[in-house]
Amino acid sequence: MTITYPKKVTIVEVGPRDGLQNEKQFVPTDVKIDFIKNLFHAGINEMEITSFVSPKWVPQMKDAGEIVEASKSYSQQQIVLVPNQKGIERAIDTGCHSLAVFVGVSDTFNKKNINKTTRESMDELLPIIQKLKNQGIFVRACISTSFYCPYEGKIEKERVVDLCREFVEGGVDELSVADTIGMANPMECYTLFSDLKEAFPNTLITAHFHDTRKMALSNILASLQAGVDRFDCSAGGLGGCPFAPGATGNVATEDVVFMLHQMGIETGIDLPLLLDAVDGIANHVERPLDSAQYRLRKQGSVNQA
Ligand code: HMG
Ligand code: MG
Repeated sequence: MTITYPKKVTIVEVGPRDGLQNEKQFVPTDVKIDFIKNLFHAGINEMEITSFVSPKWVPQMKDAGEIVEASKSYSQQQIVLVPNQKGIERAIDTGCHSLAVFVGVSDTFNKKNINKTTRESMDELLPIIQKLKNQGIFVRACISTSFYCPYEGKIEKERVVDLCREFVEGGVDELSVADTIGMANPMECYTLFSDLKEAFPNTLITAHFHDTRKMALSNILASLQAGVDRFDCSAGGLGGCPFAPGATGNVATEDVVFMLHQMGIETGIDLPLLLDAVDGIANHVERPLDSAQYRLRKQGSVNQA
């Protein structure tokens, strides 16, 4: 059997949002803006730049409005996360054109994350999505706990497909399907993403892997084999959800870019410039950044694609 891989892959950078939301110490707004600017100059075209969530729940994201204003001159697709009607209104008032709603397949996780059951979230969001589409807004739906939930354990594939179908029928442009706690294995990824690609051929399908157990690159390879050509990644491997205990950072953008370039798959990203962006944020975050590419860079190695 011949395995086919895409010639080009789109990286959706989530570092400024997923990457920083879990940082306890407030990262100054101008540092966040520089991070976004540096990522843009490295060739990132699609990026989650911030979230319009409650500042009481996630104080790190309290400067969302300023971030959006300051990032407007960068022409890439700038996505902001919104949990509810209030977040959507704040984002639209700030002039955002690409919104990401987020819902957990698991009720328990959704309650902890957004204070609603999955059904309550869907009942609130679906009518709003329709209106957003009528206004020409790009809508991405992030599906948390698509493999495992920190509270409910293994999530059945059918529940994920059913939730995705509701979103697709509701008109979303993109599904970002997440392994929130970094527990999925390559076979589970291959199976779920094959099913999603087949069920929703006209919807962008993106895989979002946290790298808690260092299985993210293997899971990306399996997802590529299932036909996925879009991956959420976080520069420096930053990230994690404050309401998903045990979850660590997202897969590091630089390690994904290196692997893809070595495989002859284009990303449009300049790895040395990307590592400059990682360097720029490294001193402003509490956790040490330990992606393979960043470690090699600090050691002065030239092993860069
Ligand atoms: P709640 O307390 O139930 O909210 O929180 P509420 O509707 O009862 O309102 C309470 C107060 O919050 C009110 O203000 C509202 O106005 C205000 P008060 O009258 O008390 O002054 N409020 C807001 N303020 C600003 N922006 C808003 C907003 N909404 C209400 N949007 C809420 C519900 C959804 C707000 C809260 O639970 C929340 O903000 N949750 C966000 C959690 C979060 O950001 N999690 C991380 C992102 S998801 C993720 O990382 C997963 C992902 O990466 C994929 C994966 O890996 O799985 C995407
Ligand atoms: Mg995440």
